[in-house]
Amino acid sequence: MLTISNLNKKYSNGVCALNNVCLTIGSGIFGLLGPNGAGKSSLMRTIATLQNPDSGQIDFDGLNIVKEKEKLRSLLGYLPQEFGLYPTSTAEDLLNHLALLKGIANRGQRKETVASLLELCNLSQHKKKKLGGFSGGMKQRFGIAQALLGSPKIIIVDEPTAGLDPEERDRFHNLLSQIGENVTVILSTHIVSDVSELCRDMAIINKGTVLVQESPLVAIQKLQGKIWTKVVEKNQVESATTQYRVVSARLTHGQVMLRVYSDVEPGAEFQLASADLEDAYFAFIRSFIQT
Ligand SMILES: Nc1ncnc2c1ncn2[C@@H]1O[C@H](COP(=O)(O)OP(=O)(O)OP(=O)(O)O)[C@@H](O)[C@H]1O
Ligand SMILES: [Mg+2]
Repeated sequence: MLTISNLNKKYSNGVCALNNVCLTIGSGIFGLLGPNGAGKSSLMRTIATLQNPDSGQIDFDGLNIVKEKEKLRSLLGYLPQEFGLYPTSTAEDLLNHLALLKGIANRGQRKETVASLLELCNLSQHKKKKLGGFSGGMKQRFGIAQALLGSPKIIIVDEPTAGLDPEERDRFHNLLSQIGENVTVILSTHIVSDVSELCRDMAIINKGTVLVQESPLVAIQKLQGKIWTKVVEKNQVESATTQYRVVSARLTHGQVMLRVYSDVEPGAEFQLASADLEDAYFAFIRSFIQT
């Protein structure tokens, strides 16, 4: 169990990246959902012990992460948002090298670990290829393979699906859900479907503040009966946003499909719609609902 209490971080340029963040994260895949600049990477780097908070506490199974960095690192697998790979190294060689750095000193054991992680991440057939020639999806799967070295108990993956095509995203989702059965995985993303497909628990974060922590199913359930749709002309969108609490306005066949948050029918020609996680995400981000 990971417990984050009253975590604060202000950078030297005055940006408050984490504002009294409190979260309780159990095993399985936890989704950290938020737009660009929300503070996701700041939070993940802090959990990964790469930067200190100004104040607050993080405990993982009784371990004080801020104080006992080394102990946490031995339990941690981390896939940063951006990472470089040695382009001339092969997948097998680099993973072997990283395994050595991770402390897997026994050669036979290292070979076995590397082979099984390459297999798990569907990279066995590419193990002799140079990393410089890897596609985005292959790089992310390699990133997961290195994050799994040393059998971590807590795995942090920072926006791993950004830039992946639908097939690679599916493949990555399957890989994560396989891993997430036994350990704590924290997945940050701005892609709502990552969370609806993978996570039983999530938090929505914006401007350094956690807006809500709850299960995606509960978040959707609370919105049922409150999301209304109407197709309008493009030039009507602006006045609609002043008149209604517009959750989203999406182009459809040259017109715009409004989704509006309202306890009662907001006006003529609106139809009640089935709520989804994207509605919940925008309703929280736009402060139509609060916890
Ligand atoms: N090292 C830094 N120095 C100063 N400001 C920073 C630093 N790192 C991040 N910030 C600022 O802190 C805020 C949160 O940034 P962070 O990278 O944590 O957000 P994020 O949710 O990961 O965004 P993205 O989805 O774009 O990756 C932003 O306003 C960002 O500009
Ligand atoms: Mg980030």
